[in-house]
Amino acid sequence: MTNKITNSTILVTGGAGFIGSYVVEYLLEHSPKKIIILDNLIRGSHPNMVNFKDNSIVQFVEGDMRDTALLEDCIKGSDYVFHMAALRINSCAANPSEGFDVMLKCTFNVAELCVKYKIKKVIYSSSASVYGLAQHFPTPETDNPYDNQTFYGAAKQFGEQLFRSFKFMYDLDYVALRYFNAYGPRMDTDGKYTEVMIKWLDCIRDSKNPLIYGDGSTTMDFVYVKDIAKSNVAALLSDATDEAFNIGNCEETSLKELLEVLLKVNNSTLTPEHREENSINPVSRRLANIDKAKALLNFTPTISLEQGMKELSEWYFEKQKK
Ligand SMILES: NC(=O)c1ccc[n+]([C@@H]2O[C@H](COP(=O)([O-])OP(=O)(O)OC[C@H]3O[C@@H](n4cnc5c(N)ncnc54)[C@H](O)[C@@H]3O)[C@@H](O)[C@H]2O)c1
Repeated sequence: MTNKITNSTILVTGGAGFIGSYVVEYLLEHSPKKIIILDNLIRGSHPNMVNFKDNSIVQFVEGDMRDTALLEDCIKGSDYVFHMAALRINSCAANPSEGFDVMLKCTFNVAELCVKYKIKKVIYSSSASVYGLAQHFPTPETDNPYDNQTFYGAAKQFGEQLFRSFKFMYDLDYVALRYFNAYGPRMDTDGKYTEVMIKWLDCIRDSKNPLIYGDGSTTMDFVYVKDIAKSNVAALLSDATDEAFNIGNCEETSLKELLEVLLKVNNSTLTPEHREENSINPVSRRLANIDKAKALLNFTPTISLEQGMKELSEWYFEKQKK
């Protein structure tokens, strides 16, 4: 079956990263002419790309998108662009100046070059962070972003609005995807801000009781990385343009419940230990309404939290044997 991807050249910024590497894998199923990955490997890695490292269709460019000439070389000749390269939320807070260059300036350069080279559509990785603490649960795309307090969320809002203005001014087609809490194999395990589930997997491995700070009532909407990657392909294939979509699993899971699932899928009898809350989390709830993505992108998540946590655990423990 041929579609927009077939015989197209597609740039994926951040394609060596956690989500980007799965997007590349799904794109390859549709026989593109060429996929260019631009990634400086600050977070991405060669192991993430192992499933396509020998595929001659894929060209990996190790470099920084702040190098505008290099970015231009990658965009020139492309038909479509997935703009996924970004700093993590904590890195933006730790170094806002770098955050400005990577998240805002580079996104501006991407948009400008996409106009210059007549890119047919941009798929922009946004985030549920744009909402801050949302007004409604489940949260529709129409909730306002005024409660966001983070530089990262501000930068993602800027990106969405930038592409919107470029659609208005230059008719550049784009779709923004607001991912909720992504997880799955290839997620970061070594970083300073390692996700709580990785810390708990370490406890399960070491037979130590896992710690919960506070009462564990903070909720998230955990969406499996392969579902997110599929939503990216769906966004490209659809006729949708000038739209932002929530991408979540539509299940509100508290940290306490998450730990229960992790213990269950690992047949663990450890019991959680509670500690006093040591930081204030201004976003105490997350739950996506994805009706719009269902209707316009034909996107429905397929992996349950239990199945996803099982796959994450297997990958993580296997990785440690190597
Ligand atoms: N993981 C999540 O929970 C989540 C949630 C919402 C939105 N997002 C967004 O989705 C996108 C992908 O996130 P991810 O989780 O795969 O993160 P990731 O860090 O694994 O991927 C980002 C990639 O961008 C690369 N990169 C960073 N700065 C670069 C630069 N200056 N030049 C070239 N490459 C650079 C990194 O090396 C990395 O491979 C990002 O835009 C992120 O903000 C992620």
